[in-house]
Amino acid sequence: MKNNRLPLIVGAFISIALIVSIFVVYNYKNNQVNSASDEQQKTTETNETNVKDSSATEIPDNTPETPAKPEQQPDENGYLPNQTLPTEPTYINGILLANKIYPLPSTFAPEENPEARQALNQMLAAAKQQGFDLVAFSGYRSFEYQTTLYDNYVKRDGQAAADRYSARPGYSEHQTGLAFDIGERGKEDLWLTEEFGETPAGQWLFAHAQEHGFILRFPQNKEDITGYMYESWHYRYVGRDAAKEMTKQNITLEEYLGVK
Ligand code: DAL
Ligand code: ZN
Repeated sequence: MKNNRLPLIVGAFISIALIVSIFVVYNYKNNQVNSASDEQQKTTETNETNVKDSSATEIPDNTPETPAKPEQQPDENGYLPNQTLPTEPTYINGILLANKIYPLPSTFAPEENPEARQALNQMLAAAKQQGFDLVAFSGYRSFEYQTTLYDNYVKRDGQAAADRYSARPGYSEHQTGLAFDIGERGKEDLWLTEEFGETPAGQWLFAHAQEHGFILRFPQNKEDITGYMYESWHYRYVGRDAAKEMTKQNITLEEYLGVK
């Protein structure tokens, strides 16, 4: 009698084990699908509503928050003598910094930042509503393209003059994918001129950029801090909180990040 029941008991045990395994595997898969669609939902919401107000970039885990202070003094063109390009970009409080003292790796090639592009498009649309047909005529530049640009400017104007308006390769904010040169469609003769800043369109942009997370990166009378002469056309995306704070305090990115 006992021996006759044994196959029955073993069979029942195997069946229960099978049902439990199927249940566990099904639940696990279901959870995975749910969390993936949650992520997608979040991304879609972020893209469809306002641009998220954040650091403007994804920050790698291994970058220091506070960069080491340079030991040398900059030369007459604002660069540190014999500086080599770093292996990592510099982030301070989540904001990517690229200037004459804190360059980018030559291999840093993030392409255009999608968050910055979205904010730019919203800003250009807002301008259009006010009757200003603004256009970003230069955005992300690769290290190689900046090399070509800079070399041509040096050939044309000499290095000292070029260094006041063009970044050397590895030192340009355009390589971050967060900077745009903006002008008015139909007024191409004013692109890359100080005069653009005097036009109603240039003034609207200067006044409203902060609402969209942008700052005028090289303002008037700040060349000793930014390293570059006034550029009425060069706007940098930093996120709305930072942009509003810098605008309120009338300070540059260098001052805001405490490196000047
Ligand atoms: N004109 C700015 C400084 C650049 O070349 O990045
Ligand atoms: Zn520019």
